[in-house]
Amino acid sequence: MNLENSQNYYGKVLESSADLRTDACCTAEMPSAAVREALRNVHEEVKARYYGCGLVVPQALEGARVLDLGSGSGQDAYLLAQLVGPNGSVTGVDATPEQLAVANAHKDWHAERFGYANVDFVEGDIEKLGEVGLEPASFDIIVSNCVINLVADKEAVFRAAHRLLKPGGELYFSDVYADRRVPEHLQRDPVLHGECLSGALYWGDFERIARAAGFADPRLVTDRPLAINDAEAAAKLAGISFVSATYRLFELAGLEPQCEDYGQAVVYKGTVPGSERIFELDAHHAIEAGRVFPVCGNSWLMLAETRFAPHFDFIGDFSRHFGVFPGCGTAMPFGQSGAGSATSGAPCC
Ligand SMILES: C[S@@+](CC[C@H](N)C(=O)[O-])C[C@H]1O[C@@H](n2cnc3c(N)ncnc32)[C@H](O)[C@@H]1O
Repeated sequence: MNLENSQNYYGKVLESSADLRTDACCTAEMPSAAVREALRNVHEEVKARYYGCGLVVPQALEGARVLDLGSGSGQDAYLLAQLVGPNGSVTGVDATPEQLAVANAHKDWHAERFGYANVDFVEGDIEKLGEVGLEPASFDIIVSNCVINLVADKEAVFRAAHRLLKPGGELYFSDVYADRRVPEHLQRDPVLHGECLSGALYWGDFERIARAAGFADPRLVTDRPLAINDAEAAAKLAGISFVSATYRLFELAGLEPQCEDYGQAVVYKGTVPGSERIFELDAHHAIEAGRVFPVCGNSWLMLAETRFAPHFDFIGDFSRHFGVFPGCGTAMPFGQSGAGSATSGAPCC
């Protein structure tokens, strides 16, 4: 029912974002000046049918090959097309013909406005990306904005994204999450599903699914609680809290399940356009330019083996391990039980 309901909701029920009944498919973040400028070059009809829940604009986009899963009327695709520039490209995939029709109707208008044509849209189901004809390991960045919650087979989407990314590429996406598993009868409610609420993953299931798909260390970038202002929807969902969150998931073979300390550090050169003072890797890593910034092995790889490498100096290597990285959320399990200590005289075996 998921795909059919999404196609009906986004193709027939909604005509513009003004028809939404909750604020789940709305973006609250303040865009940067560059993003605001680029949005001025997006056609009004495309913007009217924007239903994203976050800002899917990672840093250092110049020349990147981007895939947008569930591209809708194309706002993010046309925005990113300007940020990747004429040497990059954006491909959008969506399953709703009415949304694709709006996106395609304005391709020439945008090409003329930008001075180059680097966007295309493909009709397809993102649960079956193998059938869409995309080359494995061919994208630098995959974005998705308020779509994966709508999909039944979320595991398939993460597995496909992992397969389509180049090594060192990233899935940078905004979606809705719940603080617990949403009961099945609510998942089948057409309005709650269409409004991007009842299909939301319990955040713990998301972490597990992402890791199983090969994204070993999901990094939270931003999050905001969602208010459900529609009285009927709020009553049905009482007791469940929802957030809109943006995560980045890197396709990096060497990532470990948790943050390990090898005594490494990085120094940001201040060279990423638009992030000259501070480079934000995620919600816990705001890396100030010029400062020696200690990092765990995973953060090191996310900077050293990705498009961010030229923007950093790297101190250290992986030759010596100092245990778990302090303050990364995983504490050593020993010494908590209260039973036994070095001086208790307990037997060895
Ligand atoms: C909430 S809208 C977001 C659209 C767009 N990302 C934006 O920010 O405006 C959800 C979009 O996901 C698309 N969608 C839902 N399920 C899909 C699927 N299985 N395959 C492809 N697209 C899907 C819908 O057609 C719709 O355009």
